[in-house]
Amino acid sequence: MSYNNLLLEMHGKVALVTLNRPQALNALSPELTAELSELLDHLEADDSVAALVLTGNEKAFAAGADIKVMKDWSYMDVYKADFITATWERLSTFRKPSIAAVAGYALGGGCELAMMCDFIIAADSAKFGQPEITIGTIPGAGGTQRLTRFIGKAKAMDMVLTGRMMDAQEAERCGLVSRLVPADQLIDEALKAAERIGELSAPVIMMAKESVNRAFETTLAEGIRFERRLFHSTFATEDQKEGMNAFFEKRKPVFKNR
Ligand code: CAA
Repeated sequence: MSYNNLLLEMHGKVALVTLNRPQALNALSPELTAELSELLDHLEADDSVAALVLTGNEKAFAAGADIKVMKDWSYMDVYKADFITATWERLSTFRKPSIAAVAGYALGGGCELAMMCDFIIAADSAKFGQPEITIGTIPGAGGTQRLTRFIGKAKAMDMVLTGRMMDAQEAERCGLVSRLVPADQLIDEALKAAERIGELSAPVIMMAKESVNRAFETTLAEGIRFERRLFHSTFATEDQKEGMNAFFEKRKPVFKNR
């Protein structure tokens, strides 16, 4: 597999995918998002891959959708292509655990892409924003929806209506980011987190992820019922037996992903 806009490195069972259009601050062109979607299909189907870390470079995770490409598109162009959902949304349905490792700008579609990951680890240099309003449009890949669920209405309105950027400290304080680290430790920290997840039971990790994501889609009562059923399902796995027996035998569990 070779891509024009992405780099793929395997670190054990963790796929480190780097957005690689530095000359355009990793602006998310249709070619880039199509490549990412295709790569995610491969990574999801490959049993040797346990988790994904998605990153950019020191200056930018991604500065948004490619304005140069879309500036002259008509309503019919974007409507007929269902612009954004078709390929961008692939990350939000990726079943394996995914971590965004963000340094520099994560703006517009860049912020939205990071939010499609399961969680975000940010370098102290990270800057988040939904500046679409400043170029005469609104977020189109979940910015008004995911951001609002993550940081609440007041902050989301502030970001979306003014287009201002949020620094990494503010992003951590308001719950957009799970961990904040010095820039030179970003990739190590994200890989370590992904490797830890990769040591655990893959199917049970998938259930945990599915259950947390359900919290954004349903009522508390329904969500708890959904969680209960998945919790029950873990008892049908060999890995639950292994995990609990290993605890009592005072040894590290060896999960078989079954
Ligand atoms: N699309 C296309 N090209 C972009 C880009 C984008 N989103 N962001 C940056 N670039 C390009 C610039 O055009 C420039 O290219 P040239 O060297 O050929 O001129 C190069 O990347 C470097 O950018 P700057 O010179 O602007 O760098 P800077 O350090 O002065 O500023 C920045 C950095 C503040 C991030 C600024 O580039 C910027 O504001 N970018 C646009 C951010 C934005 O509005 N994003 C939202 C896009 S819309 C969207 O994402 C819709 C959606 O919801 C999916």
